Amino acid sequence: MSKNIVVAIDGYSSCGKSTLAKALAKELHFIYVDSGAMYRAVTLYFLRNHIDLTNTEQVTEALKNIHLNFHSRDYQTHITLNDEEVSDEIRLMPVSENVSPVSAIREVRKEMVAQQQRMGRIKDIVMDGRDIGTTVFPNAQLKLFMTADPKVRAERRFKELQPNNPDITLEDVFENLAHRDYSDTTRKESPLMRAEDAIILDNTNITPEQQLQFALEKVKPLLKK
Ligand code: DC
Repeated sequence: MSKNIVVAIDGYSSCGKSTLAKALAKELHFIYVDSGAMYRAVTLYFLRNHIDLTNTEQVTEALKNIHLNFHSRDYQTHITLNDEEVSDEIRLMPVSENVSPVSAIREVRKEMVAQQQRMGRIKDIVMDGRDIGTTVFPNAQLKLFMTADPKVRAERRFKELQPNNPDITLEDVFENLAHRDYSDTTRKESPLMRAEDAIILDNTNITPEQQLQFALEKVKPLLKK
């Protein structure tokens, strides 16, 4: 039996990773896994339960009580935290503002990476995140590293967030992104970086359709094997 295919998509915050990953998974009939949603759901649990991020014992104990599940419907992210659907709540500002420090904790990463690797062992998947091509699946058959101009990224994210966060400003979003870029690239535990064999995709000036076609061209040769 041939080995299942893993497409790893990494890159900065809000540069269209999930848009591409979802479209690609849909086109290829692969499973889509949004690894950022997992760190966000853990963050939500930590916030609700007032977990002290500097207390390793508390963090480890809390992780044992967190059960995450993806429910794949129409290639959108539907994630449950201990059986509660939290897909919308994890996108709100309290989680966005706290997810970087949570995702920098070694114990959190160890647990999430183990869960992600289990998902990729069984099925053909497209997974997006920050360390998918470097740490989670260093042997992924296709690795894409996405980037885009920070101002363009902030504008795109602002448009997405504004309907549910009427008080938010473009400056807030820009600052949050800049802060997350900085923390994600400078943290000690698997920082965001391009895997040597990852293909760079800068989508500042291309449409979602164009980036999908670009990725499909790269995937096609793998499907014939
Ligand atoms: O992709 P996102 O913006 O929803 O991710 C939320 C945060 O989770 C982001 O600030 C970095 C972190 N993250 C990570 O450290 N590793 C991943 N594989 C995915 C996300």
